[in-house]
Amino acid sequence: METDAAATVCVTGASGFIGSWLVMRLLERGYIVRATVRDTENKQKVKHLLELPKADTNLTLWKADMTLEGSFDEAIHGCEGVFHVATPMDFESKDPENEVIKPTIDGFLSLIRSCAKAKTVKRIVFTSSAGTVNVEEHQKSVYDETDYSDMDFIYSKKMTGWMYFVSKILAEKAALEAAKENNIGFISIIPTLVVGPFITPTLPPSLITALSPITGNEAHYSIIAQGQYVHLDDLCAAEIFLYECPNAEGRYICSSHDATIYDLAKMVREKWPEYDVPTVFDGIDKDIEVVSFSSKKLIEIGFTFKYTWEDMYTGAIETCREKGMLPYSTINQPNE
Ligand SMILES: NC(=O)c1ccc[n+]([C@@H]2O[C@H](COP(=O)([O-])OP(=O)(O)OC[C@H]3O[C@@H](n4cnc5c(N)ncnc54)[C@H](OP(=O)(O)O)[C@@H]3O)[C@@H](O)[C@H]2O)c1
Repeated sequence: METDAAATVCVTGASGFIGSWLVMRLLERGYIVRATVRDTENKQKVKHLLELPKADTNLTLWKADMTLEGSFDEAIHGCEGVFHVATPMDFESKDPENEVIKPTIDGFLSLIRSCAKAKTVKRIVFTSSAGTVNVEEHQKSVYDETDYSDMDFIYSKKMTGWMYFVSKILAEKAALEAAKENNIGFISIIPTLVVGPFITPTLPPSLITALSPITGNEAHYSIIAQGQYVHLDDLCAAEIFLYECPNAEGRYICSSHDATIYDLAKMVREKWPEYDVPTVFDGIDKDIEVVSFSSKKLIEIGFTFKYTWEDMYTGAIETCREKGMLPYSTINQPNE
């Protein structure tokens, strides 16, 4: 169903895995979309956006960078809504405080100042992260929107991606306050690992993790030892659903499936026997328990998930194969 009026919305981080799919779905739904990217001249990074249906008439590209104060002013001026998807995400950063944490927080606060200046923005939908919820020493069996990761634990362990967790936790909290002060509606959507088909020209960061049992990228196994998943299309549908839902407010977990890495290996082996997937993951107990993220709050206001876990992997694997990012088989064929 298309919206009646052609509302104008801004999507930050529009060239990325989630941003580009969200732009596609918003255009389909009749929105006028202003997509922000850091480099509008980089053809390789914007081609997939410009080729979207309705892009000719309803999509414009705007240059904006979270490290520059006021950078979003022009793109946001005149918009009714903002989907803030962009995030600096460099796990290898030599200066995480200044390259990841500070720009994520300051960039978001600067974006809210742009919204306040514009005076037209009713709602901001922030794509948060599961890293704001369950990074703590002992895992609970179920997490919901009242849970926050343990900052002391993160700083004491400095595990892979720690600066990303810190950046999202602090940015979400600071932005919630700033939005309140400026009387702008604030929704924070918390996706777990996003998996599915994609239109970006490069392999999305989350698929490096999601497909690690197939590619043998052992460094990522611990991240999905007790994993939670959502389909990219379900996530984008939920972003639009929450944006359009008058009563929506605050945090919403968006996650439809929980599984251990052993469950994942079993599912992949059964559905794609052509991949040589491990049966044992060193250091991860075979009986490790499932950790669940509850989307009850999202479902209770009327959202329905459409896709299964198998759908997520079918979409991801088929797109990767088509784009030459994943071999069709990893099992050595005997010589005939
Ligand atoms: N994928 C997942 O599983 C997952 C799960 C939970 C939450 N999330 C959240 O979802 C959002 C999008 O993630 P993704 O998976 O789509 O990653 P992605 O493909 O890497 O997209 C991130 C985008 O952020 C933009 N960006 C980076 N630094 C920026 C800066 N300084 N100023 C402006 N833009 C900047 C990049 O845009 P340019 O093209 O302009 O460089 C890039 O397109 C992030 O906020 C992430 O925290 C993702």
